[in-house]
Amino acid sequence: MEVIFNRRSIRRYKKQAVESEKIEKLLRAAMQAPSAANQQPWEFIVVQEKETLEKLSKISAYSKMTAEAPLAIVLLGNEDRMTLQLHWEQDLAAATQNILLEAAHLGLGGVWLGVAPMEERMEIISEIFNLKDKIKPFCVIPIGYPEENQNNKFIDRFDPDKVHYEKY
Ligand SMILES: Cc1cc2nc3c(=O)[nH]c(=O)nc-3n(C[C@H](O)[C@H](O)[C@H](O)COP(=O)(O)O)c2cc1C
Repeated sequence: MEVIFNRRSIRRYKKQAVESEKIEKLLRAAMQAPSAANQQPWEFIVVQEKETLEKLSKISAYSKMTAEAPLAIVLLGNEDRMTLQLHWEQDLAAATQNILLEAAHLGLGGVWLGVAPMEERMEIISEIFNLKDKIKPFCVIPIGYPEENQNNKFIDRFDPDKVHYEKY
């Protein structure tokens, strides 16, 4: 899969809107992720309103690009859907990676903005969307068509020193 190798965090976007068919493909990719006991604890908020994107850009010092993105997807875990609560963050991480890979595949770019387990960032998102306690914000992914010179491209990170065969 070429996108695994070419995906990069994309932080600057063209103004161009992301087509609704592509948004659905991103969400479909997310929901194909593996999850503990197949619990699929995820839910998603698709955000395209400027005012909300601006609010999301303030969750940390490292999320400013969200204000300039045409789209952001907020990933949430719903406690009611969790049979194995301990694993919800891993499930959501798999869904996040699927969105990022599908975005690269569709000619889009995005970046994973970490939220959970940082209580302060989770709280900000809960307030923006007026979420009940059982709905846990996991991350935010601003997405758009990459600005020129912001493209997904291969950077070789293979490091044989990190690989151990049979024994450590
Ligand atoms: C859990 C997690 C949290 C991250 N949070 C942020 C963030 O808040 N802001 C940001 O610009 N990038 C964030 N990133 C993206 C990383 O900085 C990026 O993946 C890393 O520098 C490697 O670059 P690449 O994605 O282009 O391979 C996060 C990535 C992960 C996995």
